[in-house]
Amino acid sequence: MTFNKELLSTFRDLLLRWNRHQNTRKMPWKGEKDPYKIWLSEIVLQQTRVEQGWKYYEKFITLFPDINKLAAAKDEKIYKHWEGLGYYSRCNNLIETARFISKKLNGEFPTTFEDILSLKGVGNYTASAIASFAYNLPHAVVDGNVFRVLSRVFGVKKPIDSTEGKKLFSQLAFELLDKKQPGIYNQALMDFGAVICKPQNPLCHSCVFKNHCFAYKKGFVNKLPIKEKKIKIITRWFNYLVISYNDKLYIRKRIGRDIWKNLHEFVLIETNTNASAKKILANAEKEKILKKDSYKVVSISPLYSQQLSHQTIKGRFVKIAIKNEFVLPGFKPVSLKQLSRHAFPRLLNSYFETMNS
Ligand code: ADE
Repeated sequence: MTFNKELLSTFRDLLLRWNRHQNTRKMPWKGEKDPYKIWLSEIVLQQTRVEQGWKYYEKFITLFPDINKLAAAKDEKIYKHWEGLGYYSRCNNLIETARFISKKLNGEFPTTFEDILSLKGVGNYTASAIASFAYNLPHAVVDGNVFRVLSRVFGVKKPIDSTEGKKLFSQLAFELLDKKQPGIYNQALMDFGAVICKPQNPLCHSCVFKNHCFAYKKGFVNKLPIKEKKIKIITRWFNYLVISYNDKLYIRKRIGRDIWKNLHEFVLIETNTNASAKKILANAEKEKILKKDSYKVVSISPLYSQQLSHQTIKGRFVKIAIKNEFVLPGFKPVSLKQLSRHAFPRLLNSYFETMNS
């Protein structure tokens, strides 16, 4: 697909003019030149709204002002501060990459696009953002904002989640990029997508592209961009036994390839459907997790729910007092005070907020 050269240069000029005169968006990482801080902001912002990521970014920068400080911190401390942000593999990658740069690269952040791209947790988008913001290298960012703005203004109907679509959008984004000021241009385009060309209720009437925008002229604004795959969301039922003994609760760290890796939880009995507390306890006895008549049910919580990108987790918490010390591989007893030093999934934190111990 070839694009009208005149429209390309008009787009670039109008966007940069909008940025100079009308863009009032402020964010703590904007204009930042330190690649460590840019990298940190971009990892925090992957799959996260700016309003949510903002506080986490500031907290991390205060606690870990440089890459060596982050690399030297304990996993548990980093996880605890990441708590609530979700998509925990990002936190894993953050730790691994910080230690790699600190130990193997002497704490020096890589300076070429290829070297940045080779870092764990850094894909094309993030590498382009770091390379352009920190080093002014001519790499175009292509994120959700960019897909939206370009598909609407240029009328690109290829699905943004198809191989062909991705290639086409990357090509268009690169042709549009202001190669003299790629950092400023990239940030302007993202800001424009976030504050004007929004997913819902975009501000078309005051938009600088009003006379050029394909979607606006044709009444397609709410139809673009196009996605071809619908994600299938499954529901999982997590039944937790909150086992208490001597004022302590039994928890373990989740390992393996499932969700919430490295976060903590209670004794989990997963079922295919919504199961009653009675059924869960019968199941726990059958699995020899609990011994008949050796425990007392203290409370049964209502159902809690947490929405992940591809899964809905429904959770119920059955608090149990046991008469003899509990032994189950991987579990340790912790006091309520110690509990707060561990990182938990949001579902469990919602329970803690209402738990009567
Ligand atoms: N989302 C990810 N990176 C961003 C940035 N630099 N500015 C605004 N939103 C973003």
